[in-house]
Amino acid sequence: MALFLAISNRKGGVGKSTISTMLSYAFAVWSNKKVMLIDLDAQSNSSLILLGGEQWIEAQKKSLNVAAYIEDRLYSIEQTKIKEYMIEGVGDVLTDSGAKPSLSLLPGSLNFEDMQDELITFYSRNQTPYQQARNKCAEHFRAAFSFARRQADIVIMDCAPGLSNATHAALKLANHVVVPFRPDAVSAFAVNRISTIIEGQSFDAVQNIAHDERRYTCLANYVRPGGRDTIYVDEIAHDHPMLTTQVPAMPDVADAFDFLLEPMSMDDKFGAATPTLRALHDELAIKLGITA
Ligand SMILES: Nc1ncnc2c1ncn2[C@@H]1O[C@H](COP(=O)(O)OP(=O)(O)OP(=O)(O)O)[C@@H](O)[C@H]1O
Ligand SMILES: [Mg+2]
Repeated sequence: MALFLAISNRKGGVGKSTISTMLSYAFAVWSNKKVMLIDLDAQSNSSLILLGGEQWIEAQKKSLNVAAYIEDRLYSIEQTKIKEYMIEGVGDVLTDSGAKPSLSLLPGSLNFEDMQDELITFYSRNQTPYQQARNKCAEHFRAAFSFARRQADIVIMDCAPGLSNATHAALKLANHVVVPFRPDAVSAFAVNRISTIIEGQSFDAVQNIAHDERRYTCLANYVRPGGRDTIYVDEIAHDHPMLTTQVPAMPDVADAFDFLLEPMSMDDKFGAATPTLRALHDELAIKLGITA
């Protein structure tokens, strides 16, 4: 049975796609796992990171993407297989022995938002009340994503900013959610909000759940030395489980966004950020019971 990991925060630009792709590489290479990334964002950033622009355009032309998969399941559930929409052997890193890691991708699609509207329209037919249609829509997504369990050991879902039906479904399906945040004066609001959705309870009720029993962990990303960052991290850590590893703001993290045609080692891909990624991988592997 695959482990489903969602990377989510309602807030934009906090590093969801960066962390999703970094963890995909780390678990595929260092834990030797079969990893699949599902790109749930119409911006398709993690798809572009793992495929590069040209391959991503090719994938769109062939309808190899999450929107096509979800839409086709609407009209022909029996025949629609997730395997036919995903791409194997993605990314530009190699294992220590020089092999391609087992990393696959269900690419994002620019049509993902339109497709979600279409899904709501479909489930709203016959004057179904809106909330009921939304629930059916989220269930459609959850069931569709759950078929990834046969394709990988670890399924990483890169959520879009905001709280779409697809994100709700991913948060429901996930065994665990990593919530990256940038330490600033407004980050606590977003973390508080998503914690209530993940746990399905009010903020006060969530506070009564022990930190190590919650289904999510926060990750401080883009941490800068000095300044007020520590204060904001401590403020969130008071109310929420927090990973010890922090990802500093550094050019080598930003540069890993680039897809290069010539595959390289993890050290070459992540440069000075490699020890941080290693620490993050090791900490999460222990927390989630992932053994190499
Ligand atoms: N630790 C870091 N150091 C330097 N740059 C970073 C770091 N983390 C993320 N970035 C940069 O910040 C930008 C936003 O990151 P990213 O796209 O991963 O965020 P996101 O949460 O997925 O955004 P969105 O909400 O739009 O999906 C990118 O340009 C990325 O390269
Ligand atoms: Mg993103």
